[in-house]
Amino acid sequence: MNNNNLQQRYELYTTDDFKVWQTLYDRQMNYLQMHAAKNYLDAIEAIAFNRHVIPHFGDTTVRLQQATGWQLKVVPNLVPQDEFFTALSQRIFPATAWLRSYEQIDYIEEPDMFHDVFGHVPLLMNADYAAFMEGIGKLAMQWMHNPQAISLLGRMYWFTIEFGLMQEQDELKLYGAGIMSSLAEANNALGTASAKHVFDLRQMLHTNYRTDILQDTYFTITSFSQLYQSLPAMDAALKAIVKDEVLIT
Ligand SMILES: [Fe+2]
Repeated sequence: MNNNNLQQRYELYTTDDFKVWQTLYDRQMNYLQMHAAKNYLDAIEAIAFNRHVIPHFGDTTVRLQQATGWQLKVVPNLVPQDEFFTALSQRIFPATAWLRSYEQIDYIEEPDMFHDVFGHVPLLMNADYAAFMEGIGKLAMQWMHNPQAISLLGRMYWFTIEFGLMQEQDELKLYGAGIMSSLAEANNALGTASAKHVFDLRQMLHTNYRTDILQDTYFTITSFSQLYQSLPAMDAALKAIVKDEVLIT
C-alpha cells in the first residue's frame, strides 16, 4: 500500500500487507529473542507490537508520549536531511506507513514501515535512547549550515542508531534499526566477516560507510546512556574539525 497523504490509512492495508508484517515479524523475532539487546526486547514488549497487528500510529504515539514524549509522523518516503533532523530535535520520528510487497520481502531499497517502525520505534520507549535521538537532532540544527558537520553527524547516526551493537556482559547484542529489520544484516553483524570496534567517537568520525552493501564495520556500546553522554564530545569534535578546517574523508 502506498501512502502519500501523510496519514496512516489503516483501512487500506490489504491481507498481503498483514502477511508481510507477520512474516517479517516472525522471522526477525525468532532471531532477535536470542540476539537483540535486552533494552530492545523490553521496549518492543512495552510498545505492544505483535505479529498479528500492523502497528497503529495513533496507539503507538500514545505509548511513546507516556514513556518519553516522542511521537510518530507519517512521511511518504525518505525525508530531506534538514526536515528529518528538525523533527528529531522536537521528539518527532518521521516514519513511512507502507509495507514492502511480499515479492520484495528480502530486500527493499527505500526504508518501508517494517524498517522504520519495527526497526526504529521500539527503542524510542527507552529514556536514554530517546534523549540521544533528540540530542542528535538538536546538534544537527546547530550545524545545518555546515555540510561537513552534518555528514559527520550522519556517520554517528549510521554507526549507532542504524547499525549499532551492544555489549552485554560477554555477549554481543543487536540494537541498530538497519540490523533489527534485516536478517542478513543481523547475521552479518554477529558473524566473523565484519569488524567490531569499541565505541570511539574519533574512530567513528573517520570511518566511511556504504549504504548499498552489508556493513563491514560495527561499533559496540555498553549502554544508551553512554551514547547520550557522548553528545558534548561530539559537539566539541565538530567544533575542532570546523575550526581547524580538517577535512575528514
Ligand atoms: Fe533507518
